[in-house]
Amino acid sequence: MLNGKTVVLGVSGGIAAYKAAELISRLKKLHADTRVCMTKNAQEFITPLTLQGLSQNPVATDLFAPPAAWEIGHISLAAAADVMVIAPATANIIGKIANGIADDIVTTTVMATKAQVILAPAMNTNMYDNPVTQQNLARLKSLGYAVAEPASGRLACGITGRGKLADADDIIEEIIARTLYTKDLLGKKVLVTAGPTREKIDDVRFITNYSSGKMGYAVARAARRRGAEVTLVSGKVALAPLKNIEMVYADSARQMYDAVMSRADGADIIVKAAAVGDFRVKNAVSGKAKKESLLTLELEKNPDILMELGKNKNFVLIGFCMETADLAVYAADKLKRKNPDFIVANDLTREGAGFATDTNVVKILHQSGETEDLPIMSKDDLANEILDRAKIILK
Ligand SMILES: Cc1cc2nc3c(=O)[nH]c(=O)nc-3n(C[C@H](O)[C@H](O)[C@H](O)COP(=O)(O)O)c2cc1C
Repeated sequence: MLNGKTVVLGVSGGIAAYKAAELISRLKKLHADTRVCMTKNAQEFITPLTLQGLSQNPVATDLFAPPAAWEIGHISLAAAADVMVIAPATANIIGKIANGIADDIVTTTVMATKAQVILAPAMNTNMYDNPVTQQNLARLKSLGYAVAEPASGRLACGITGRGKLADADDIIEEIIARTLYTKDLLGKKVLVTAGPTREKIDDVRFITNYSSGKMGYAVARAARRRGAEVTLVSGKVALAPLKNIEMVYADSARQMYDAVMSRADGADIIVKAAAVGDFRVKNAVSGKAKKESLLTLELEKNPDILMELGKNKNFVLIGFCMETADLAVYAADKLKRKNPDFIVANDLTREGAGFATDTNVVKILHQSGETEDLPIMSKDDLANEILDRAKIILK
């Protein structure tokens, strides 16, 4: 995913320096060219040799080391970077960068680079909460530095609080967002639904569908990477909650209806990727029903969220449609009746399309009558195709 991108990782001298090894290993798996520089104090915690072995590149440790070829270490690192990450970032290095100090290989490279710099602070809670650290971080943010916020948890010093290095997943997410995406949806509000709904039969049984939520989660993630403020209304799925996104869980179709309707006002784009059950059980009971009583289930219709949203919309509305036959006919009918700006339709019987896959093959039907047939692509790529089209309508 990060093929052709150079990530310069600066490691400073905190206990979490050992976690730089994991981060480098993850970056290599994503095919990033990973170059490492370390402060002198970082080498008290982890050896350059370990990080060299993992990054498969020489590790820069000395600002004044004679260069092998005639290129000055910090300048060539700074120029090569598509993004620079300081992980872990000590209180000391944050303070130095915030005040323009460049007295080692890491801070001098930061000073010399034009690439986006991401800081991943890790320190004792008191150090983190210290107004000096907070002011330094605020100043750096205002200057355009990104911060992978530290988590709360048990710290190496034995206390529990804020200051734990952000998860490798979160740091990688920030790297991907900063290197592969432009913030073209900054200031926009995007509401996405994902996953299945569940309709209760009794207190132990329910009716649901095979939706994995992957498509909706991909749209929410892409919108967030593009700078939008995102709310994800999710049915029960096996996917981890997305960070920096407002996660709202809804179980039944009626709960999802309420969750969406109460948040639709003010949205710029609504993407309805959830597979909402059409029916609920009219004779649902409390407790566990005896199986003989379940041979006949009486069903009644659920509210139609897309139809409701399509009535008076002042946002871009995108619907989804999945069929096993006559896709174009049913999708066109849904487009007409429910009034989304466009509908993303996929045929469950096509290889690479459907619920639990990581890819999709879709047709996009527009209100103008135009139909596009998109080739098979990852759900992440399709999410961007959908947002590209929504953005054009938004203009
Ligand atoms: C055992 C030990 C653990 C430390 N852990 C941290 C830490 O997690 N975060 C931090 O900001 N400083 C930590 N420090 C303090 C830094 O090492 C110290 O401020 C140092 O000057 C940082 O240097 P550097 O920023 O140039 O790498 C630790 C010090 C010691 C001795």
